[in-house]
Amino acid sequence: KPIVLSGAQPSGQLTIGNYLGALRQWDQMQDDYDCLYCIVDLHAITVRQDPVALRSASLDSLALYLACGIDPARSAVFMQSHVPEHSQLAWVLNCYTQFGELSRMTQFKDKSERHNNNVNAGLFTYPVLMAADILLYQANQIPVGHDQKQHLELARDVAMRFNAAHGEVFTLPEPYIPPVAARVMSLQDPTKKMSKSDENPWNFVGLLEDPKMISKKFKKAMTDSEDPPRVRFDIDAKPGVANLLSILSGVTGKTVQALEAEYEGKMYGHLKGDVADAVIALLEPVQKSFIELRADLPVLQSVMRAGAEKARARAAVTLAKVNDAVGFVLP
Ligand code: AQP
Repeated sequence: KPIVLSGAQPSGQLTIGNYLGALRQWDQMQDDYDCLYCIVDLHAITVRQDPVALRSASLDSLALYLACGIDPARSAVFMQSHVPEHSQLAWVLNCYTQFGELSRMTQFKDKSERHNNNVNAGLFTYPVLMAADILLYQANQIPVGHDQKQHLELARDVAMRFNAAHGEVFTLPEPYIPPVAARVMSLQDPTKKMSKSDENPWNFVGLLEDPKMISKKFKKAMTDSEDPPRVRFDIDAKPGVANLLSILSGVTGKTVQALEAEYEGKMYGHLKGDVADAVIALLEPVQKSFIELRADLPVLQSVMRAGAEKARARAAVTLAKVNDAVGFVLP
């Protein structure tokens, strides 16, 4: 089976964007691929985190992965920091990555503007750690959102450079484009993507939010002042309505065209109410299962320990090859 690796940062509560764009695909891939899913806590500290909140968000993420259908019997589920090989390989790959290449990464440019009081070296070399995450497991397919494509290309370039110098050590990863690529946008500023670490909570819907709050957030979502108002999909002219339609399409499986026909002559309020109801219904079983799992620390511990053990056994094989290739004395 082709190897797939993916992960999310515990930098806040996972959102419906993370669900529609990632977690749902991860669940569906488990039968056909050899999957590794991690909680990338090392990446999360590139932005300053409160330690208590980070620990709690990491365990929440783990319980949410499981509640969304990630099955530890089929996939390795683990905390990135439990597999030290990620950091070890990242160091070696840092020495095979050019300063200029990293300077061109658009996410670094964005994040260094947003967090301009903490433009640390980790934020700059984040893509190298991501390359290490992928290359450690010789992953073939990487499910990536649009925003991560540039990082995946860098991982391929670094792998090719290393292989050219030392022989075929790394498998070159390919992007995996999910059949329905959902990109969920911010509710108040629908030209930017929905992000869990957004400082304005009205911009995102977390997977653990209370149904009443979910309804309020959708009710307040930004639309437009087209006169007369029409529910139609036009990303440039009507990004807010387009986002609501694509969320509803993602959740219900109906096409956007079918939804446009269904809402012909109806008001935005009607659409907002239906999106909220659909999201609430989708999340109900996830939240129920989350509550049980999150209350059972021993279960979470046994899942993450077993996941880390599986992952480490595989990571160690690649790291040993790398260490040998660069000329380290083997122990
Ligand atoms: N809005 C989104 N729509 C679709 N997919 C999304 N993903 C994230 N946001 C959306 C996908 O979720 C996976 C995990 O992402 P991540 O947590 O590693 O980092 P991110 O992409 O930076 O997600 P956030 O929520 O925006 O985190 P913060 O706010 O901490 O930066 C990825 O597969 C991503 O494509």
